[in-house]
Amino acid sequence: MIVKSDNYFNQIKEISDNKKVLLSKSPFTNTIVYLESDKVLGFLIYDVIYEKVEIIYIFTHKNCRRKHIAYNLLSYLINEVKEKDNITLEVNIKNNSAISLYRKFGFKEVAKRKGYYNGIDGILMEKKL
Ligand SMILES: CC(C)(COP(=O)(O)OP(=O)(O)OC[C@H]1O[C@@H](n2cnc3c(N)ncnc32)[C@H](O)[C@@H]1OP(=O)(O)O)[C@@H](O)C(=O)NCCC(=O)NCCS
Repeated sequence: MIVKSDNYFNQIKEISDNKKVLLSKSPFTNTIVYLESDKVLGFLIYDVIYEKVEIIYIFTHKNCRRKHIAYNLLSYLINEVKEKDNITLEVNIKNNSAISLYRKFGFKEVAKRKGYYNGIDGILMEKKL
């Protein structure tokens, strides 16, 4: 089951490999979770800033990968924000799994962010809605 909810923050904190992104919550921030028996197996955190959407982080529990959990979270997001202009995100140039996931949804590389991740380049990707 996928729901948009802020009620799973503790579970998200427990499973996430990146605690830093969880600190950057603002009034624009939303969370979508993938649940099985009320356990979070994946989540997607994103900001909606007027007509623009930005993915902050998408994550699937490390024991549950390659089961289309992230795919389903992204599909849910795209449907949720279909009236907006675009979705953008930053991804580490070495993160092939995430890049190939985003390409599957038609995200395109629009800029390079030199040294964005501790010296490793980032890619800014965008999907027009
Ligand atoms: C990236 C991540 C979210 C993918 O989650 P997932 O639930 O395993 O992905 P899915 O099963 O939904 O995969 C959907 C598609 O993404 C691509 N993909 C996902 N994992 C991949 C991998 N390890 N290698 C290559 N392609 C991959 C494939 O195109 C896949 O479709 P397919 O299985 O039909 O070939 C997961 O690996 C993760 O949590 N990584 C750590 C956090 C992270 O890097 N987040 C991205 C930050 S920008």
